[in-house]
Amino acid sequence: MNILVTGGLGYIGSHTCLALLEEGHSVIVADNLINSKLKTLDNIKKIANKSLDFHQVDVSNEKSLETIFSSFPIDGIIHFAGLKAVGESVEYPLNYYYNNLVSTIVVARMCERYDVKKLIFSSSATVYGDNEAPFFETMSSLKTTNPYGESKAMCERILIDFARSNPSFSVGILRYFNPIGAHESALIGDSPNGIPNNLMPYLTQVAKGKLKRLRIFGDDYPTIDGTGVRDYIHVMDLAAGHVSALYNLKEGIHIYNLGSGKGTSVLELIQAFEKATKINIPYEIVNRRPGDIASCWANTNKANKELKWIPKRDLLTMCRDSWRFERNH
Ligand code: WQD
Repeated sequence: MNILVTGGLGYIGSHTCLALLEEGHSVIVADNLINSKLKTLDNIKKIANKSLDFHQVDVSNEKSLETIFSSFPIDGIIHFAGLKAVGESVEYPLNYYYNNLVSTIVVARMCERYDVKKLIFSSSATVYGDNEAPFFETMSSLKTTNPYGESKAMCERILIDFARSNPSFSVGILRYFNPIGAHESALIGDSPNGIPNNLMPYLTQVAKGKLKRLRIFGDDYPTIDGTGVRDYIHVMDLAAGHVSALYNLKEGIHIYNLGSGKGTSVLELIQAFEKATKINIPYEIVNRRPGDIASCWANTNKANKELKWIPKRDLLTMCRDSWRFERNH
């Protein structure tokens, strides 16, 4: 199939492009490079030993996206393109609402105009807000805690209405938990600009000596050891989840949790990283980070059953692969 991947040079997007190429699909990437690097395109080609089309476009710009659809027969779209930093979304909410909602509306419009029957949307566990974990897809009261999460919840609602007006279309909403790890080649991985917001890239930079010590945001949560609990999932398993969705998505709108189904605390992740890499991670306990919740992990029965998708990589592998990528850069 010819698959358009918006945001295909980003962290999850690049690993998904690789998985699609390895499955023999043709991949067209639309990415504005605001949060990604052109070098990633060459690295995907190097790993897959295959080529893929790249268009530097802003996906919220309907005219620029039109040029792609009018030049290629597209069989499916995986829409990753969007802004995704929680803290930044609090500072610049209008950018987040404009970028994330308009790009999703433009992509859905292209599906209608060019009769592209499969659309997969990159959503996030953030839409669950401060619900009680484990999170089920049927949880209706989405209580988001920041504009980023709210923009994802709004995009979901837009796509639900879009799917209802196009009953022959298959629309998949994939809610990711916490992606970490990297392809074993260490050529692609999570390389945020500036000081990392997320735990794993911060941790690997401490391991490398780029940052002095890890600050643990609070140890007074109602969790196993007081530190925040999250559901970490290997980015390669997440990429495989998108391929499974492409193959198994039925007509209509379908929402799936893509996580490991296990909760891991910050201290447990540090211990796993030290065990996997034999590197000691200095840390200090500081105040809670505003907007953080205590526990977030997935019930993944629905994706396991309907998408025939089971994550394969364990926490030690995720730590080893994250470290190999950091060491390589
Ligand atoms: C994980 C845990 C922190 C950094 C975010 C987005 C989510 C998704 C994934 C896009 C928490 C603790 C972190 C640090 C720490 N992104 N922590 N010190 O906040 O669960 O999810 O990224 O879709 O939408 O919300 O991920 O990695 O920032 O935090 O103690 O320096 O690690 O408190 O408990 P989070 P995270």
